[in-house]
Amino acid sequence: MNARPRNDAPASQCSVSQLLELESQYCSYGDTVHYADEIKIFDRSEGIYLYDKEGVAYLDMQMWYSAVNFGYGNKRHNDALKRQLDKLPQLACQYLHEEKILLATKIAQRIQKTFNVKGRVHFNVGGSAAIEDSLKIVRKHTGKNLVFAFMGSYHGRTLAASEITSSYRYREPFGHFSNRAYFIPYPYCFRCFFGKKRQDCGLYCLHQFEKLFESEYYTILNKKNDTSEFAAFYIEPLQGTGGYIIPPPEYFRGLKNVLDRYSILLVDDEVQMGIFRTGKFWAIEHLDITPDVIVFGKALTNGLNPISGIWAREELISPKAFPAGMTHSTFSSNPLGTAIGLETMKIIAEEEPALLETIPRKGKYFADRIRLLQKKYPQIGDVDSQGLVIRIEMCHKDGYTPNRELTDAMTNIGLSGKLEGNGKRMGIIFDVGGYYKNVFTLSPSFYITEQELDLAADLFEQALRRGLQQIG
Ligand SMILES: Cc1ncc(COP(=O)(O)O)c(C=O)c1O
Repeated sequence: MNARPRNDAPASQCSVSQLLELESQYCSYGDTVHYADEIKIFDRSEGIYLYDKEGVAYLDMQMWYSAVNFGYGNKRHNDALKRQLDKLPQLACQYLHEEKILLATKIAQRIQKTFNVKGRVHFNVGGSAAIEDSLKIVRKHTGKNLVFAFMGSYHGRTLAASEITSSYRYREPFGHFSNRAYFIPYPYCFRCFFGKKRQDCGLYCLHQFEKLFESEYYTILNKKNDTSEFAAFYIEPLQGTGGYIIPPPEYFRGLKNVLDRYSILLVDDEVQMGIFRTGKFWAIEHLDITPDVIVFGKALTNGLNPISGIWAREELISPKAFPAGMTHSTFSSNPLGTAIGLETMKIIAEEEPALLETIPRKGKYFADRIRLLQKKYPQIGDVDSQGLVIRIEMCHKDGYTPNRELTDAMTNIGLSGKLEGNGKRMGIIFDVGGYYKNVFTLSPSFYITEQELDLAADLFEQALRRGLQQIG
């Protein structure tokens, strides 16, 4: 059970307006803070709530883009951090510590049990850095640079991660990207790229991909020796920033068959959807296929002292295949992070039977609440969930044309902290994704209760009503 929100204003050195003035002078605007019209300064976090400097509570339905799966201020993680702080808080990554070895072991053994494949783990900090490491593994193993990725994909914003992230917007200011991925339509059935309907499409999109291998004139295969110019396919088993799109598993089973035929590696990006977000440890477990590489990050440390990493099957990452010094970063296996990651693995081991039941149940509960609202508001075009991954696609009255204006208005209304919940002033944190920026991509804490999900649905409806009034 999460703590109830408190509305007590903490002491502060600077007023909000002074801080915003300093921010406007001294902080770079190159991150994503200034995407929103409503700029907020948060002061405290606890359970499922963020608090602003006036003590107003915001129910967080996003949890740091699914990094804080186990709730803010989780005691188990905080205690693990404190224990490590008193024991071995700092250590150069060229030396070993117990927590690193045990964390790698637990991840690799879990993957071996799930997929029946032996592999090894390599740590880094941040999802994009781990993606970079995975690209090195792919290049080293295949000797090739080119990869497939999906339209709508998001794999990070470092230079190489931008090459496999679909939006040209992220690349345009930075010159030529010579290894830009070959982007394939994602099986996004609500807005099929090919204008088909899932009931009778016969997986047309998969066949279009397969067709690329039919002739050398389709640019990717040497038909004389059946060798593809492409080394790997980077997938998100449930597309994250692209709009929490839940694909039909049959698509991925077919895709894997094609990749196997031409020895193209499958890299599974679980940075956002891994660590039980979808109701299984890895989202790819819903698809019944085995990856060659898994990339993870975010929730492994519940958003504390970040650790990311990759797992690869032995052939790709054995000491011979990927010897010492192939990649390195100062903070890559930092002991505070590995100790917290180890605690996450312990929590999962203890709570797994409960998580397997509660995560899908709560996700469905909230999605059903929003489906009830859909009957009243045709602007709710599509609602879907897998585990505690919930998508709500906002549209115009026809229930299909994307409505970014309404989505933005609702996001700002949530962030203004001027809604009402439990008889108090409250806010709600949404996240927006999707190809048309009209999808609420929601990933609440695993420990959110049904009562709190009712409150979230109520705040959502208030924001929707006000948003509709605002945009007229
Ligand atoms: C699927 C996926 N891959 C990679 C990344 C990049 O991770 P980071 O922001 O930690 O660099 C993200 C971040 O949202 C992501 O969702």
